[in-house]
Amino acid sequence: MRHFLSIKDFTKNELLEMINLAQKIKAETKTKNFVPYLEKQTLGMIFEKSSTRTRVSFETGIYQLGGIGLFLSSNDIQLGRGEPMKDTARVISRMVDMVMIRTFAHSNIEEFAKYSKVPVINGLTDSYHPVQLMTDYLTMLECGVEKPIVAYVGDGNNNMTHSWLMLASKLGFELRVATPKGYECNQEIINQALIFAKESGAIITFGHEPKVAVEGANVVTTDTWVSMGQEDEKEERIKAFDGYIVDGSLISLAQKDAIFLHCLPAYRGLEVSEEIFEKHADEIFLEAENRLHAQKGIMVWLDQHRDDTTTEGK
Ligand code: CP
Ligand code: NVA
Repeated sequence: MRHFLSIKDFTKNELLEMINLAQKIKAETKTKNFVPYLEKQTLGMIFEKSSTRTRVSFETGIYQLGGIGLFLSSNDIQLGRGEPMKDTARVISRMVDMVMIRTFAHSNIEEFAKYSKVPVINGLTDSYHPVQLMTDYLTMLECGVEKPIVAYVGDGNNNMTHSWLMLASKLGFELRVATPKGYECNQEIINQALIFAKESGAIITFGHEPKVAVEGANVVTTDTWVSMGQEDEKEERIKAFDGYIVDGSLISLAQKDAIFLHCLPAYRGLEVSEEIFEKHADEIFLEAENRLHAQKGIMVWLDQHRDDTTTEGK
């Protein structure tokens, strides 16, 4: 059995298999051909943080695959009153067929997976947001970006950036990360990505100059400067990120037909200007829709690998 906790746990081939499944199921869905790949299966969805896209896409996705989603807010289940993660895992995984969790520390989801009898999917932790990055890759392909040169401008030490590092280093494309000083990526995750990059041929660079990162890129992306759980740091973060807005003058340095991606929710006037957000709205909302399709690929792949005995990803 495999869990989907981070992109780092999968080979390039496995990640591409999931993307292929997503493309196939998306095409079927678009012709109203709802193949029941996960008939009568239940997906438990545990949320310790807020969500719009993750909740709606997983709940709709499992339903369209022939199953049902159970929305479990931590405020409403005993987890929120202190029942241990490992007990929650041992109970819920005896009743459902797959679990998706959105939580704080990445160790929480690792603990859950350790005790779970069914595959566990990371719906965002403080360290990683892998389902979003699989979605972003699907979106880049649909936008015709075959050889990505991605510029990420903003907070380095967050779930999006870390997942970009994993995606680029596993699939072998170019990623340039520009962050303010003091907001660089986690060093252990950088080290891990650089090891993968050696094998895949990915080019990954880090710096503090948004212009250097964006020059010649064909994908520009960013994320909120204040992630969930960092609300107390809001004022100091907004000061520290001054100069890191993705606006018209910055993006003009990218390739002419460069796309702009944002996982959403977006804060206009902070990490992205209103003008650039609206100019690239087609790509951004295609990306949002693709959560539904990419996650179907991941769920079906995990279901097909329930008897997998490989140690990778465990
Ligand atoms: N991008 C994303 O995960 O959105 P939500 O927080 O709304 O789920
Ligand atoms: N980095 C953001 C992503 C939101 C989808 C956060 O964790 O809040």
